[in-house]
Amino acid sequence: MLEKIKETISYLYKQTDIQPVVGLVLGTGLGGLVNEIETGAEIRYQDIPNFPVSTVDGHEGKLIFGMLGGKKVVAMKGRFHYYEGWKMDEITYPIRVMKFLGIQFLFLSNASGGVNPDFETGDLMIIEDHINLLPNPLIGKHYPEFGARFPDMNDTYSQELIKKAEAIAEKLNIKIHKGIYTATTGPAFETAAEYKYFRMIGSDAVGMSTVPETIVAHQMGIRCFGISVITDLGVPGKIEFTTHEHVQDVAKNSEKKMTLIIKDLIKALT
Ligand code: HPA
Repeated sequence: MLEKIKETISYLYKQTDIQPVVGLVLGTGLGGLVNEIETGAEIRYQDIPNFPVSTVDGHEGKLIFGMLGGKKVVAMKGRFHYYEGWKMDEITYPIRVMKFLGIQFLFLSNASGGVNPDFETGDLMIIEDHINLLPNPLIGKHYPEFGARFPDMNDTYSQELIKKAEAIAEKLNIKIHKGIYTATTGPAFETAAEYKYFRMIGSDAVGMSTVPETIVAHQMGIRCFGISVITDLGVPGKIEFTTHEHVQDVAKNSEKKMTLIIKDLIKALT
């Protein structure tokens, strides 16, 4: 794994001399934030040695290096999901690479189903904590170079970043929730009974991503910030027929406000 990472990094260094401080992983329908990046280099996943290549609609596969909010960033346009059949070490490989490129902060976005009855379609939710119902990405051979074998998971979503984001949302007059994101395999959306179960165990939103990347980033000492766009509701009486296209449309509509928050938050990083 370490040799593979070295090979990937040495290829990337040949394409760009930008050394990013911030990593971005953008979710379904939320890739437009990369248009705000003053791009220095754009590299297709298929050209990067050892990188997986994404297959799902709405997940274009590119690594974008540039400036955003006055900081050097690297953005993944398109992420890898467990439901596509990737292994956990493949899903999280780009995060390992970003760490070795030098990132200190990781921003993650996703589309998710809201199970908190106070939520409405199109709302934003800052991820305060998660419940992981996917396999843990740290299962398997341990590399001490990455961090602890048994990492503590306290403050996985940086409280400092959460507080700053809340203040930014208030200043911009953007309605924002905080809550617990539960990661599940998908690709089927939930039954009514499953949405009810997720609410009972303490979830506010449910989705199919973000947590594997966050666990790996946290193990390596990266400060994480996650934000969900609520694209549909898993709330009794409000459950509607859901399609991937609907999820993409709603995410697109909420993208602007999410982008404003992330940009200001990156500006405010110290
Ligand atoms: N469930 C799981 N994942 C999702 C949902 C959902 O309702 N909406 C968007 N991603």
